[in-house]
Amino acid sequence: MALPMTKATLEVAAGSATPFADQTSARAKTQTLFPLEVRGLCFDAGGRRLIDNLDLTLSASGTTMIMGPNGAGKSVFFRLIHGLLQPSSGSINWAGKLPSEAVRRKQALVFQKPVLLRRSVAENVDFVLRTIGSQSVEQREQLLDRVGLLSLSKQPARLLSGGEQQRLSLARALALNPEVLLLDEPTASLDPASVMKIEQIVADAVSHGVKVIFITHDLGQARRLASDVVFLHRGKVAEHAPAETFFECPDSEAVRDFLAGRIVL
Ligand SMILES: Nc1ncnc2c1ncn2[C@@H]1O[C@H](COP(=O)(O)OP(=O)(O)OP(=O)(O)O)[C@@H](O)[C@H]1O
Ligand SMILES: [Mg+2]
Repeated sequence: MALPMTKATLEVAAGSATPFADQTSARAKTQTLFPLEVRGLCFDAGGRRLIDNLDLTLSASGTTMIMGPNGAGKSVFFRLIHGLLQPSSGSINWAGKLPSEAVRRKQALVFQKPVLLRRSVAENVDFVLRTIGSQSVEQREQLLDRVGLLSLSKQPARLLSGGEQQRLSLARALALNPEVLLLDEPTASLDPASVMKIEQIVADAVSHGVKVIFITHDLGQARRLASDVVFLHRGKVAEHAPAETFFECPDSEAVRDFLAGRIVL
């Protein structure tokens, strides 16, 4: 029987698996975007308030897991902090900077549904590498190897399985060599081995100083990866706590219901 995955086994696995091989990413990241400070954030669309006076401060280190029921506003929140949506009111500051193009370039967002080019797997990575001025075949091969897709390099991306497409999305995100990875349910459709692989890649990135903000519905995954957890409910932060506090003695009723397996609406 397979051993249960824990945060410790992941860290060990990440350390011994595929480390950052290229010189640029081998150095620990210098973070220039933290703290992220969100104040009084509101976003209205379709006559509804989707994000409702949200306040949150995130620090540079570790993995912040974002949880909450369907429709809570998690994906909309990602689009707002990444600058793809404009707030209706309130403010978002990455170390004092608005989510401008320059800030966005230091971040990579992996969407809930993979967004890929109708080209080969290799060309999907090459396209991203070219945007940062690199034409390195070696770099592309390292990236595809890290997500376990090297043998599928020549295959059209549209023929990949859902889980493989999500791993290719992650390779494209890592190709940007970001300071921050914003991952929106990157393992939602993956089998346990692929989940483990993605979690190792994430743990590896974190150990090299990349900040990860990760949306998930998977409690086991949150326990394995979280430094801190944000629970969104109806467009607000119901709770933001260090992982241990969140899982062992949560403050809010919404989180207590959620952890007890009661339905949170
Ligand atoms: N552009 C939009 N116009 C109107 N409503 C929207 C828009 N984008 C999102 N919504 C609504 O906002 C709410 C929050 O959506 P969001 O995608 O952020 O939820 P989520 O927390 O990511 O949920 P899930 O866990 O299902 O992914 C949903 O009710 C959704 O229908
Ligand atoms: Mg979502």
